[in-house]
Amino acid sequence: MATKSRIKSVAVIGAGAAGAATAAALNAENYFERIQVFERRETAGGTWIYDADPDPLPLYPGKLPPDTDPALEIPEALPRITPPIEQERWTKTPIYNSLTTNVPAIAMSFSDSPFAYGPFAPHYVPRQYVENYFSIHKTDSLLQLNTTVEDITKLPSSNGQSSERWKLTLRKHDALRRVDIWWEEEFDAVILANGHYAVPYIPQVKGLEEYIAMYPDRISHSKEYRAPAIYAGRKVLVIGNSASGHDVSLDLVGVANAPVYQSRRSKARWDGDGPLSGIEWKPLIREYLPSGRIIFEDDSYLDDIDAVLYCTGYKPSFPFWNVKTNGRPLWDYEANKLIKTYWHTFFQDFETLAIVGMPRTLTFRSFEYQAIAIARLFAGRNALPLPRLKEQEKWEMDRARRTKAEGKKFHDIPWDEGQTIEWLDGLFRIAGLGTIRGEGLVPPALSKELIWAVEHLRKYPEDPDEHGEKGNDEDHAGRREGSEGGWVVVQREKLPLGGVLP
Ligand SMILES: Cc1cc2nc3c(=O)[nH]c(=O)nc-3n(C[C@H](O)[C@H](O)[C@H](O)COP(=O)(O)OP(=O)(O)OC[C@H]3O[C@@H](n4cnc5c(N)ncnc54)[C@H](O)[C@@H]3O)c2cc1C
Ligand SMILES: NC(=O)c1ccc[n+]([C@@H]2O[C@H](COP(=O)([O-])OP(=O)(O)OC[C@H]3O[C@@H](n4cnc5c(N)ncnc54)[C@H](OP(=O)(O)O)[C@@H]3O)[C@@H](O)[C@H]2O)c1
Repeated sequence: MATKSRIKSVAVIGAGAAGAATAAALNAENYFERIQVFERRETAGGTWIYDADPDPLPLYPGKLPPDTDPALEIPEALPRITPPIEQERWTKTPIYNSLTTNVPAIAMSFSDSPFAYGPFAPHYVPRQYVENYFSIHKTDSLLQLNTTVEDITKLPSSNGQSSERWKLTLRKHDALRRVDIWWEEEFDAVILANGHYAVPYIPQVKGLEEYIAMYPDRISHSKEYRAPAIYAGRKVLVIGNSASGHDVSLDLVGVANAPVYQSRRSKARWDGDGPLSGIEWKPLIREYLPSGRIIFEDDSYLDDIDAVLYCTGYKPSFPFWNVKTNGRPLWDYEANKLIKTYWHTFFQDFETLAIVGMPRTLTFRSFEYQAIAIARLFAGRNALPLPRLKEQEKWEMDRARRTKAEGKKFHDIPWDEGQTIEWLDGLFRIAGLGTIRGEGLVPPALSKELIWAVEHLRKYPEDPDEHGEKGNDEDHAGRREGSEGGWVVVQREKLPLGGVLP
């Protein structure tokens, strides 16, 4: 049975899709006295805010966010006005011109508002959608834009009760006066919605650092990639075989010098027995030589490569989390997971801290379940309490052990094994219903249409066993200008509805 909550003020960090869902859920509780959403960019939208000019990004092979995205030095005696900071903060996003969504719109969008069209929309559709979602829920007034949370420090409870409070150090960039304004605010609870695709990762390879020094313009990360035009006629090597590696390689075909080389560590879901036309597969790189030669693990090599594009993903970063005052870090870079969480959402040792958006699964829609469960819990109106600490610890240990043994990632929640539905159902149960007077959002049902879309609509054919029939945007969801608009409806006999294997 839930008890009346003492949490009256909540800070949300980030105004991407996770922040949008969180603000809507908190606001709908009609319980909190103060909700603030801090966003370091000029507008809401997060990942989806396209920048035509990504700025050249520094390259740090093998380095992790504690080194590549360190905390800023906070000026003493706040509030204070200082010259603007100069440190790289990785704020711009990795969206490229041709990027379309890769999750069917009905499953990607929030339950109470459809995407303008789908099923696989160009990147500006989710961008407009996230920004508008704040207005739809009248949470736009909660936004503090251009404001970076630079430090989060746990304070002892002011009234002697066991729960903590949080001091946030904030920095607002005043573009007109070209200054940074620093100040502090206190909150009863903090929700992290800061995303985890901001700080690029480039693996360490023998000779790479020297190669970068000798050929400074050759290496870049997909975060900087916007369009193939600047690679016209150039000999390009793409590293990585996940969504970015696949998309960028295909984007380059027909523009860059043929073939486009792609170095893969593992087989992707969509790979057949050989590469698509215009692409040549290579194994991992073993070494970069000062001559410019790039040697692969099978002893083959390439000379005269003009550009190497690292599509090797991102690492979560929490530079604002004060490890010293809070007693421990948030992220374990070795195990690749949050430390001491429960259900990927709550923290075992900080009952007024929560996080939305970490699992790799249905994105926006799952943020909605997380946000509603957190809002209900923080308002003290949850239907089920969180399990006792011992059970939370057991959940984390069991999952860590299982995912490690299976070679999977702790925060990946696959659909086909029924894990997504089980996870969402857990959040659904914790949240329960709103009040009879309508306070609180209600965790949405996973409709048959949504489940069908997840299991049958593909941006491109993936599994060779899936037999596809081509769909197009005119048939289903309106016109997509400037795109071929192809996608695939697959027939799958392997899974019953809901993806839960018998
Ligand atoms: C290239 C690319 C393509 C993708 N395509 C898809 C797709 O097709 N379908 C899909 O479902 N998902 C896709 N994703 C995943 C995508 O990240 C999620 O869909 C979703 O946008 C994540 O939302 P978020 O709010 O968790 O994070 P973000 O969108 O990253 O938002 C986090 C926000 O927090 C802000 N922030 C961070 N730190 C601070 C701070 N200290 N102070 C203040 N503000 C801060 C950031 O500026 C940002 O606006 C893609 C990701 C990438 C990188
Ligand atoms: N809408 C879209 O179409 C679209 C487009 C781009 C990105 N995205 C999304 O953006 C997010 C990030 O995707 P991403 O492709 O940039 O990153 P990612 O999914 O994390 O993939 C990273 C890639 O780099 C490889 N890699 C990592 N470390 C390596 C190492 N040490 N040596 C060699 N290879 C290494 C990985 O290989 P392994 O597989 O072997 O680990 C993988 O192929 C995902 O959520 C994705 O869905 C979506």
